[in-house]
Amino acid sequence: MEILIFGAGAIGAFYGSRLAFNKNVNVSVVCRSNYQAVKTAGFSITSQQFGNYEWSPARTFANASEARKAGLNWDYVIVSTKALPDVSDDSQLLAGLISERTAIVLIQNGIGIEEPYARRFPRAVILSAVTITSAAQPKHGSIQHHRWTKINFGAYPGDSQQATSKNNLLIDLLSKVGVDDASAFPAQKLQLLRWHKVAINAAFNPSSVLSYETDNPSMVHDADMYEHMKGVIDEVLGVALKLTGLPLPKDFATPQQILDSAKKSPKGSFPSMLGDWKRNQKMELEVILGNPIKLGREKGLDMPRLQTMYALLKTAQATREQRSESRL
Ligand SMILES: NC(=O)c1ccc[n+]([C@@H]2O[C@H](COP(=O)([O-])OP(=O)(O)OC[C@H]3O[C@@H](n4cnc5c(N)ncnc54)[C@H](OP(=O)(O)O)[C@@H]3O)[C@@H](O)[C@H]2O)c1
Ligand SMILES: *[C@@H]1O[C@H](CO)[C@@H](O)[C@H](O)[C@H]1NC(C)=O
Ligand SMILES: *[C@@H]1O[C@H](CO)[C@@H](O)[C@H](O)[C@H]1NC(C)=O
Repeated sequence: MEILIFGAGAIGAFYGSRLAFNKNVNVSVVCRSNYQAVKTAGFSITSQQFGNYEWSPARTFANASEARKAGLNWDYVIVSTKALPDVSDDSQLLAGLISERTAIVLIQNGIGIEEPYARRFPRAVILSAVTITSAAQPKHGSIQHHRWTKINFGAYPGDSQQATSKNNLLIDLLSKVGVDDASAFPAQKLQLLRWHKVAINAAFNPSSVLSYETDNPSMVHDADMYEHMKGVIDEVLGVALKLTGLPLPKDFATPQQILDSAKKSPKGSFPSMLGDWKRNQKMELEVILGNPIKLGREKGLDMPRLQTMYALLKTAQATREQRSESRL
């Protein structure tokens, strides 16, 4: 079996390195800024759960056209780039890599991330994945797996027999290498899980940046911030339940449970968007805020808390860029 990880950063390299423990599975990667480091020395992974280990991908490509030249028939192409539709449409880079037997797997946060892939590859199986794994790449090729492995997969836009078998096979490969909380959801439930994750991300990520780099536990300990955080989560979940027509599943955390768990999170734990902001990188604002706002509006459902944060952060990002350009 041939698997290609497109965008081997924190999440892609972590799952890729696990999948590669399967016999008869070759896992290759398309890198960008970490290409030289990975080509030379592979990845080194540190994980409390799995220990520390090295991983040399079967093949390491500098970009998509190099991967195309390999002329392989990929079973899975796993996309784990940041979802930044305002910067690039990564679906176009997959042209020539997708065959009849390829399933495209999207492990990314946000809403609406599948659309460009579904439009470009209407006949391909698309598996949409939501993970709560926490991982980072503090330097090129060094992957820190912090906590959790949980990942859920669902077909997009709807279930099919072909998608189900691709889904089950991938979950099987993961469970054989210690990722035993990978599971499949029906397509609609997976979309609701995306909204649920977005409710959490939309509350914590922008608020940390806008509150001058406040950590997760502090954001829920302050009474005014708590009211804001709960307001955002309720707002997003409320719209999500109306849009999908589903009740909140019993296996999803309630807003209260989300906030209680953040209260207990370690001091100094920050949402990843804060890291993007501090490193001067683009934040995933469109898929976490912009797309949900748009989809809600189309059905007459406004999210004023989300809209306010979106407008402020998008403008902060643009203003900072303009100033740094004018300084050059
Ligand atoms: N990290 C987490 O704990 C976590 C948890 C849950 C969900 N997620 C979600 O998972 C997704 C991936 O996040 P991440 O933290 O793994 O991000 P990341 O560490 O920045 O990894 C993304 C990787 O994709 C590469 N890339 C981007 N465009 C590329 C291209 N055109 N060709 C080749 N490589 C390309 C990036 O290269 P460059 O270095 O050149 O940019 C980077 O190595 C995001 O949607 C995120 O929200 C992350
Ligand atoms: C791919 O897998 C096959 C079978 O396990 C193996 O013989 C081959 O060497 C692998 N190729 C690479 C580039 O790792
Ligand atoms: C892809 O990478 C190869 C090898 O580093 C390089 O020669 C080529 O110009 C790159 N192509 C694109 C489209 O970036």
